[in-house]
Amino acid sequence: MLNLLIMGKPGAGKGTQSERLLRHYQLTHISTGNIYREEMLKGSPIGIEAAKYISQGELVPDDLTNNIVRDVLANGNFPNGFMLDGYPRTKAQAVALDQMLEEFGMSLTAVINVLVDDSILLERMAGRRVCPSCNATYHIKNHPPKIECTCDACGTKLIQRADDLEESVLNRLRIYNEKTKPLLDYYKRRHQLMVIDGVRSSDDVFNDIVEKLGEKNGHH
Ligand code: AP5
Ligand code: MG
Repeated sequence: MLNLLIMGKPGAGKGTQSERLLRHYQLTHISTGNIYREEMLKGSPIGIEAAKYISQGELVPDDLTNNIVRDVLANGNFPNGFMLDGYPRTKAQAVALDQMLEEFGMSLTAVINVLVDDSILLERMAGRRVCPSCNATYHIKNHPPKIECTCDACGTKLIQRADDLEESVLNRLRIYNEKTKPLLDYYKRRHQLMVIDGVRSSDDVFNDIVEKLGEKNGHH
């Protein structure tokens, strides 16, 4: 059982690495950002509520997010484990997650922190294109799709995320520093934090994570 949590600033490569890790280890993806984007696309009440915050680069209120994750953990089926991406991102969410894990008899195997400088993040988010159907992530220069503007995996037309416009990107980075960064200490104190240099090719980042997870679990 491998229950992973991936952290990092907006644009650090959490989604990109998650996609690869879940394929490699057959994990279930729990991305609160993807869940909210799907709800917004459907125009559901949760989506309409979340859109007010997401479009501004603000965090959705903790109660709403905690309830969503609780539902997923309570009802999901994780034969090989899960991959949490984008949750928790406040102290209150981290505390809520601990309570849920305890209640459901689960625990985190590792917390991966992908480190990238702000200057690189801005360029990554400006060039990001995503598939609204399967959530695959591309970059116009770093990871272009085979056919322009088209998802390699499912053929859907790629879009730019509404919160990737410069104004909300800057707000997201500011909120990360204020609300989410302090969580690194929370996990570091428990010796669960695995720091990964994210300013390398996505292959190199991926191989480094897999190697470090192997060491942690006592095999290579
Ligand atoms: P969320 O979707 O979680 O966004 P985020 O944390 O801002 O992170 P991103 O998805 O922007 O970046 P990423 O690290 O996944 O990078 P990616 O792999 O795409 O949340 C969005 C919003 O939803 C929040 O702002 C908030 O409003 C709300 N929300 C979500 N969760 C919440 C919660 N728990 N509580 C409250 N509100 C919540 O990569 C970025 C780009 O770089 C891509 O184009 C990619 O192709 C490229 N790239 C990736 N790796 C590399 C590499 N190694 N080299 C070169 N390019 C690369
Ligand atoms: Mg993401």
